[in-house]
Amino acid sequence: MIDTLKKHIVEVEAFKTDSKEAVEAFRIKYLGKKGLLNDFFAEFKNVPNDQKKEFGQTINELKTLAAEKVNTLKEALENETDFSPIYGDLTRPGEPIELGARHPISIVKNQIIEIFSRIGFNVSEGPEIEDDWHNFTALNLPEHHPARDMQDTFFVQTDPDILLRTHTSSVQVRYMENNQPPIRTISPGRVYRNEAISARSHCFFHQVEGLYIDKEVSFADLKQTLQFFTTELFGKSKIRLRPSYFPFTEPSAEVDVYWGLETETDYRMTKGTGWLEIMGCGMVDPNVLDNCGIDSETYSGFAFGMGIDRIALLLHQISDIRLLSENDVRFLEQFRSAL
Ligand code: DAH
Repeated sequence: MIDTLKKHIVEVEAFKTDSKEAVEAFRIKYLGKKGLLNDFFAEFKNVPNDQKKEFGQTINELKTLAAEKVNTLKEALENETDFSPIYGDLTRPGEPIELGARHPISIVKNQIIEIFSRIGFNVSEGPEIEDDWHNFTALNLPEHHPARDMQDTFFVQTDPDILLRTHTSSVQVRYMENNQPPIRTISPGRVYRNEAISARSHCFFHQVEGLYIDKEVSFADLKQTLQFFTTELFGKSKIRLRPSYFPFTEPSAEVDVYWGLETETDYRMTKGTGWLEIMGCGMVDPNVLDNCGIDSETYSGFAFGMGIDRIALLLHQISDIRLLSENDVRFLEQFRSAL
């Protein structure tokens, strides 16, 4: 009899489960009204006197163990939060994560920022809704200046002083108003012009403006900086500066990069010349420096401005500028890039 009890003790100690039903079955088996323990207690009167003591102790031990087991198992099961109604089967394979693609404008903009940041330029930004002063007047384009017509402007109808900036040169003005030289900054952003939309031009596009102001800055510094830039961005170091006119720079130039004439596309892109125009630049006009609170007797500098969209079209062989703002996923997903 005692041996049977001892077997049950071993069995109770070894019992394990993570189901509530099994715990309940276990409880009924040992501690229920018609359970084994009650049977054993009923046996007690039949046990010979000299064994009663040991039998009594063993049966109590079994009872305590069984009761403790039930309690511990119940507690453990109650504390265990069941997530299955929320998450379903936690062992199922994960959902595949779709990798996104950056917009080609962002890719090229980031490349330009990265190249200039290596030679000490920081990044600055200004508002897209500008006033006349920052977009025109401070840049040596007073009212009625004919060069204002070079850039067809969207005005805010109720106030002719407020407009959508036509170029990021407005950020130059803001930057100089708030910072003294040495200045080395590039200003990327969106600009707006009242132009007919076609494969080649849009009423909004993107530019990066560059500004370098310090003591004794020369045109040679400008040329070196641009040459470094074209080498890094296009892998092409041959550039030429053609005299041009911008009201805010004197002298002014247009920058062409020698693209080459190796393929038919090169011929088409460069109209058979091998050269591609990529930006405008020049030495900042002393009037502009003075307008922005920088002493033009002490300081000089250069500025440049380029269109990001055009460069993105060139670098990625995109044939229509409108693709850049239509956001067709089939177009966008072709631009997977680390930048
Ligand atoms: N703002 C000019 C444009 O939109 C580009 C430009 C030309 C910017 C010469 C400059 C510059 O800073 O020096 O066409």
